[in-house]
Amino acid sequence: RAKVGILISGRGSNMQSLVAASRAADAGYDVALVASDKPEAAGLAWAAEQGIATFALSPKGIGKPAYEAAIDQALRSAGVEVIALAGYMRLLSGDFVARWRGRIVNIHPSLLPLYKGLDTHARAIAAGDAKAGCSVHIVTEELDDGEVLGQAEVPILPGDDATALAARVLVEEHRLYPQVLTEFVRR
Ligand code: GAR
Repeated sequence: RAKVGILISGRGSNMQSLVAASRAADAGYDVALVASDKPEAAGLAWAAEQGIATFALSPKGIGKPAYEAAIDQALRSAGVEVIALAGYMRLLSGDFVARWRGRIVNIHPSLLPLYKGLDTHARAIAAGDAKAGCSVHIVTEELDDGEVLGQAEVPILPGDDATALAARVLVEEHRLYPQVLTEFVRR
């Protein structure tokens, strides 16, 4: 079974779905570490309660290179082989991505290549799109770029605001991410 490290910045609901799915016999992976750039992230407390190793460090005051070196060290100490970003709201440096090339995946709440970056749901509604969704992709130096490994779609319904649409997409994120991660660690 592959050892996965999950990086979060907040709530961590995708992290929770990855952890829950990892408990299945055929998941193909175990979650070895949950790390965050936000020591107060709600997801960290949840992971600790589950008995999962956690690591928290803010880049504030120490700078990005020192911060990323510490995260890298924590991941390697935990034996992590694959990194899953789950609501991790920071851009990883080219150096960090190079050290883990092809071994970092991310979930993004849009049908990539549409709507890279923030405010994906509001932008999809404003554009008059009929559908939205989420994508799991390999992380490269470019924001929300890299090979798309899987996507799920939902309809955009009349009267949707960003909150309503985000909730509909999130249900699909929780289903898609564990499925794609299981396929990814096997390939
Ligand atoms: C999720 O919708 C995820 O797709 C999105 O943030 C949310 C995190 O929720 N990620 C991004 O926007 C990445 N740029 P969670 O903490 O409950 O998983």
